[in-house]
Amino acid sequence: MDVCIVGTGYVGLSTAVGFAGHGHRVTCVDIDPRRVNDINSGRCPIFEPGMDGSMKSSVGKNLLKATLDLKAAMASSEAVFISVPTPCDDDGRMDTKFIDKASKDIAGNLSGYKVIIVKSTVVPGTTENIVKKNLEAAGKELGTDFGLCMNPEFLREGHALEDFLRPDRIVIGSTDKKAGDLVQKLYDGFNAPVLRTDIKTAEMIKYASNGFLATKITFANEIGNICKPLGIDVYKVMEGVGLDSRIGPKFLRAGCGFGGSCFPKDVQALLSKGREAGYEPKLLETVLETNAKQRKLMVHHLKSKMDLKGKRIAVLGLAFNPDTDDVRESAAIDTVQGLLEHGANVIVYDPKAMENFRKVFPGIKYASSSREALNGADACVIATDWEEFKRLEAKDFKEMKNSIVIEGRRTLDRNKVKSFEGVCW
Ligand code: UGA
Repeated sequence: MDVCIVGTGYVGLSTAVGFAGHGHRVTCVDIDPRRVNDINSGRCPIFEPGMDGSMKSSVGKNLLKATLDLKAAMASSEAVFISVPTPCDDDGRMDTKFIDKASKDIAGNLSGYKVIIVKSTVVPGTTENIVKKNLEAAGKELGTDFGLCMNPEFLREGHALEDFLRPDRIVIGSTDKKAGDLVQKLYDGFNAPVLRTDIKTAEMIKYASNGFLATKITFANEIGNICKPLGIDVYKVMEGVGLDSRIGPKFLRAGCGFGGSCFPKDVQALLSKGREAGYEPKLLETVLETNAKQRKLMVHHLKSKMDLKGKRIAVLGLAFNPDTDDVRESAAIDTVQGLLEHGANVIVYDPKAMENFRKVFPGIKYASSSREALNGADACVIATDWEEFKRLEAKDFKEMKNSIVIEGRRTLDRNKVKSFEGVCW
């Protein structure tokens, strides 16, 4: 099938590369000429495992290309995906400006029946109140000129392509059967259950999933905070809890709180939408408050051990997740901010995310390896569980002035490195 994808962030690119890998002819549309160039040269504009090779191969087979020209891309496509960002505005509500613009542009270039599919995470009502309305305002008729679907994604950064190709489920919300059937056909050959719903339900499934996962992590963190002073290892506790098939073992890794471009903004947007609907979502509010405190805990623990003023503190791990260079809402941001506020001299290291972190904190020191960061440090904080850090051994910490290490993630091998303190274990 011929597919057009508007917006080439994590979601758009994973969808494009994933569909092209399944033999569909995909055209990506973006407003950034550099991105378009990168894609057409077979270079993935983001760091994401597996993406470079798959992109190169699909571009080489003429199954994947990119353009600035929406009209040309749409002309040859049966399905048009919208995968533009949906950030939060200053009041915590979902900002619809990109969805609004993309759907107006699509409406202006629509000729012949096409299915328009929202892939961006949008609060319930958005697809019908913005996308459908914009198309209708341009004189297009639902069912005749266009079909409308909402097909949420469930990709984790760092595993985006793998999650796209091997999903737990495919959710397709549609206004009518014909449009939904076309989208379902795109996923032929994917080994996953397909759930067909109306549009608003599909939109809500995405928010409810992210809200639940954020709550699950926060629950593990809370149990960890209770376990720590009692001398109980929360990781063993959660192993025992997760073996209950009603609960499951995933997303129970306690640590320095969730970050990234999704959980914080999506929980906030769901909270705002709930309030708008006349309900006070106390649980979601508590999740955000508890998570904000959790992200400050590493500095709190360090402060209880030393006066941070003038001390050299190494921060290992700047990305919000391993295997990504994305630092949005990463625990390292709160940590470095807290350390600087207490007068510490901060030196940081990350295998991939230094360039992005430098945009947030241009004035701190950047080391070229974990060893360089640890050398002479009064203390160290580990904020991301990169594989590289898992291989650190006790001798790697010997170059520190004091071997005080606070782990925000359960990174170090307990058998090799025993003398370190976890944020909530
Ligand atoms: C999340 C969801 O997992 C995806 O299903 C969803 O599609 C995506 O948001 C989205 O809405 O686009 P992502 O934020 O990329 O994916 O990455 P996760 O692996 O979920 O991690 C989010 C945060 O939770 C990270 O800071 C991670 O360290 C933290 N986390 C995760 C924990 O603290 N403990 C865990 O057990 C798991």
